[in-house]
Amino acid sequence: MNTGLSVLFVCLGNVCRSPTADGLLRSKVAAAGLTDRITVDSAGTGSWHIGSSPDPRARAAADACGISLDGLRARQIVAADLRRFDYVIAMDRMNYIDLCSLAAENDLPSRKIELFTDLAPDAVDDPDDGVPDPYAGGADGFRHVFEVIDSGTDVLLNRLRKQLTSA
Ligand code: 4NP
Repeated sequence: MNTGLSVLFVCLGNVCRSPTADGLLRSKVAAAGLTDRITVDSAGTGSWHIGSSPDPRARAAADACGISLDGLRARQIVAADLRRFDYVIAMDRMNYIDLCSLAAENDLPSRKIELFTDLAPDAVDDPDDGVPDPYAGGADGFRHVFEVIDSGTDVLLNRLRKQLTSA
């Protein structure tokens, strides 16, 4: 039996998409009574927002659905994260490419890096691009991103549960 699993979501700024995924999966993990077995975190490939709370628009979209992003603070990914986490989930294609480069530069395998929309390809128009970046848009974009991430984190939680119970 697996004793514990860990998931890191990665976007560009770590203030919109990956903290939304972090907050959503944490909440689902808690509701499933699995907080002591599944670790959830998020990070950005960029450094601009280090130390910042999630974007108020991401917080509003999450709050409207009863999900709190309180307490999350942006940080930048480091190579050690690629060793430490079981799953490293890139929110979009560019994040995925950047993570694969970070792995290659540090002689680490890229096999644990996945694209978020591979979890829920039907939730977006172009799953190959990943979750759209809502930063330059309005509240509608943030609501859409929340829904996409809600679908994908459901699929991910199911997978984690199966893995925890498999021999
Ligand atoms: P995120 O969105 O990657 O989902 O956190 C963005 C946040 C900030 C910027 C771009 C995207 N930015 O250019 O500062």
